[in-house]
Amino acid sequence: MTHTHTPHAGDDNAADTDVVTLLMRQHGDIRNLFDEVEASTGEDRKDAFRRLVRLLAVHETAEEEVVHPFARRAFPDAEEVVDERLAEEHKAKESLAALEDLDTEDPGFLPRLRVLRESVQTHARAEERYEFTHIRRSADTARLASMAKGVKAAEAMAPTRPHPGVESRAANMALGPVAALMDRTKDAVRKAMGKDG
Ligand SMILES: [Fe+2]
Ligand SMILES: [Fe+2]
Repeated sequence: MTHTHTPHAGDDNAADTDVVTLLMRQHGDIRNLFDEVEASTGEDRKDAFRRLVRLLAVHETAEEEVVHPFARRAFPDAEEVVDERLAEEHKAKESLAALEDLDTEDPGFLPRLRVLRESVQTHARAEERYEFTHIRRSADTARLASMAKGVKAAEAMAPTRPHPGVESRAANMALGPVAALMDRTKDAVRKAMGKDG
């Protein structure tokens, strides 16, 4: 077992009311999980990789449901900025799908993981520079908080920390493919933001 400390939601209460702080913390969590996958081996790597895949899936889904639609209307040239981010997300999701079924012991795993990491981090930096700064300027406190609520609902579907015990590891493995997780995340976000029923 590696003892990398991966921060998670409960470590940072301030983030709960500001969607930008929350998303930037998730970018940090994602970076830490990439480190954890690279630094571990065997079952630990498999477990860390599952957590990384889940967090990436719910993070990008939440952004697509909550943040990009708001940003699209929030500032000049927003349409172009958001379209570029969506194209990057699409690319990252393709790399993710290519890795999803790959054995973490496969010699091709680490090189492909690094390709994914590069595209995910380029994307995250672009969001922070070209999108999040505008969101913070254009959204009032209530809007930042309501968007944060949607992102928190998504985050609840992806624990970043390993749960001790073989049983929960088995449960984590049984959660099914990324596409299904993204669908469930969409539902959770919409419900949390009162867009559903
Ligand atoms: Fe994104
Ligand atoms: Fe992001």
